Amino acid sequence: MDTANVDEIREFADMGIVYGVTTNPTLVAKSGRTQAEVIPDICRLIPGPVSAEVISTDCEGMVREARELAKIADNVVVKIPCIAEGLKAVKILSSEHIRTNVTLVFSLGQALLAARAGATYVSPFIGRLDDIGEDGVGLVADMVQVFRTYGLKTQIIAASIRSVGHVNAVMKAGADIATIPTKVLRALLVHQLTDKGLAKFLEDYRASLK
Ligand code: E4P
Repeated sequence: MDTANVDEIREFADMGIVYGVTTNPTLVAKSGRTQAEVIPDICRLIPGPVSAEVISTDCEGMVREARELAKIADNVVVKIPCIAEGLKAVKILSSEHIRTNVTLVFSLGQALLAARAGATYVSPFIGRLDDIGEDGVGLVADMVQVFRTYGLKTQIIAASIRSVGHVNAVMKAGADIATIPTKVLRALLVHQLTDKGLAKFLEDYRASLK
C-alpha cells in the first residue's frame, strides 16, 4: 500500500493482502502524525518491507537518518531520492546491509544508476510521467527488460499509481511490486457484477424459503 494512514493499512492487512507499505514525506504529513510515530505502528502491522523516506539531501545527512530509521524495525527500508548525493548514500547503506528504495525515478538511466549503486528497490513514478505526457508504464516495461537482460537484482516497485488500469498494466509489464494508494486498492476489490450477483443469490435463496 502507498499510504501512511494506519487505519487504512489495518483494514486491508486484515484481508491478508498487504505485502508491504511505502510512505513519503507528503503521505506522512497527510496522516497528521510524525514519521517517528507512524513508522513503528506500520511495522508492527505489516511484516513485509515498509519504506520510510529521508528528509536530508546531502549524503552524510541521509546516511545518518537512514541508520536511525533502520533501527526502528527489521523490515524498514530507507527511501532515498534519486540524486547524486542519494546514490552515494545508497552505496554506503548497501555496504552496511541497510535496504534502500530509490525514489523519484523517471528514466531508464536513473533506474540503472540506482541499481548499480546497490539499491534494493527502485521506484519509477508512472502517474507523474503520464501527467507530463510521457509513458509511465512503458518505463516500467523497459526497466523489466533491461534489468533481466543484465541480471540486476534490484526489484522494481511501480509507484505513483492512479488507477486500476495502471495496476493491470504494470503487472503485465512484469513489475516486481506495485505500491497502490488506498482508493485504487478499494477499486481493485469491487466489481458491480459481484455486488449484483450476490444480491440476486441472496434474494433467490430467501424467496425459496417462503
Ligand atoms: C511511492 O513510493 C510514492 O510515495 C508515491 O507512489 C507517489 O505517488 P503520487 O505521484 O501519487 O504522489
